[in-house]
Amino acid sequence: MQEEGLEKRFILNLLEKKLEKDFSYDSGAILGSMCTEPLDVAKEIYLKYISKNLGDPGLFLGTAALEDELICEIGELFGNKNIIGTFTTGGSEANLIAMRIARNLRSDIKNPEVVVPVSAHISFDKAADLLNLRLRKVKLLDNYKVDLNHFESLINKNTCAVVGVAGTTSLGLIDPVEEIGNLVEGKDIFFHVDAAFGGFVLPFLKRLGYQVPLWDFSVKSVGSITADPHKMGLGVIPSGGYFVKDASILQKTGFEIPYLAGGPFKHFHIVGTRPGGPIIAFWVILKYLGINGFNEIVKKCMDNTEYLVQRISEIRGIKLAVDPVMNVVGITTENGVSICELEKALRNDNWMLGKFLDLNLIRVVIMPHVKREHLSNFAVDLEKIVKKLKL
Ligand SMILES: Cc1ncc(COP(=O)(O)O)c(C=O)c1O
Repeated sequence: MQEEGLEKRFILNLLEKKLEKDFSYDSGAILGSMCTEPLDVAKEIYLKYISKNLGDPGLFLGTAALEDELICEIGELFGNKNIIGTFTTGGSEANLIAMRIARNLRSDIKNPEVVVPVSAHISFDKAADLLNLRLRKVKLLDNYKVDLNHFESLINKNTCAVVGVAGTTSLGLIDPVEEIGNLVEGKDIFFHVDAAFGGFVLPFLKRLGYQVPLWDFSVKSVGSITADPHKMGLGVIPSGGYFVKDASILQKTGFEIPYLAGGPFKHFHIVGTRPGGPIIAFWVILKYLGINGFNEIVKKCMDNTEYLVQRISEIRGIKLAVDPVMNVVGITTENGVSICELEKALRNDNWMLGKFLDLNLIRVVIMPHVKREHLSNFAVDLEKIVKKLKL
């Protein structure tokens, strides 16, 4: 660190150079991210309220009340407006909180286990590591769907939680939440649904007339849901969401924070200081877009998804892993050869996709920043590379 402060203009120039290496959403190169450019109005509001701290809600009573109001609105969207919840740094923190709750609700189990599909996000492995849980991973069938018989066989007296995913990271698939619910119905096992990605897609897909299986609080046994504003909610980073059906769980498992200037309170969080800006921004997004605005955004993503599906079907040597159920497209090779060379060649051409080696697929997430012309250019390059690699 230098002794004297530098001129702002000089610093900005320096910064711009240093950040030149970053990819931007509007370039079209980012085809494998579940985040996107936040809505302009969200950025504006976030900046205006950047200093709000929900780590001390007694000092920011208005922001805390806004968070509760937002949770209620989201509850309505997710099939139960009488939920409680909280906003987090993202889906990983929300899933970690869910697993901690599940473990603590069953403190009678000495060696607690969680049954999770093998397609669940890595945040469950992190949670298991941090919380000393044993993950029992459910196999997938050949069509990448969860093997329900295997799921059932892994549930035992040590099971404190089961997990279903509504919008898997790899393929955007929706686990059979209703059927998993039936497996734990009447048992003292916490059922968490990870809809970090799908949470702000599925309610709108359903309204648009797509076939959407039950995945939310309308399934009786679902105890909590993760759904992230900073993914398809078009919110600012960081904003994840964690929503819980039974309000008494906060009293049973929350941390008591006694020392705050605004007064003591209970929370679920890993973090203390917690940004209010992203939450206020998301409250504004819901008001600004309304259901119809979200419908329009999701419809455009789905139209673009169908366009890419069509283009891929015209390229010999590669194929879709599955027919997309939301705006996630998995691409694999027709003859089962490794996807690695294709992914590398695409990356060399500045196409940044997700790579899932265990499933031998590369993945495009058709986020709102992904435009038709980006996909058209991508399809041309993809075809050239597939031919060159003789896949
Ligand atoms: C299904 C699912 N859950 C959780 C997460 C983790 O979210 P975050 O990166 O916001 O922690 C992701 C990230 O892509 C995800 O796809």
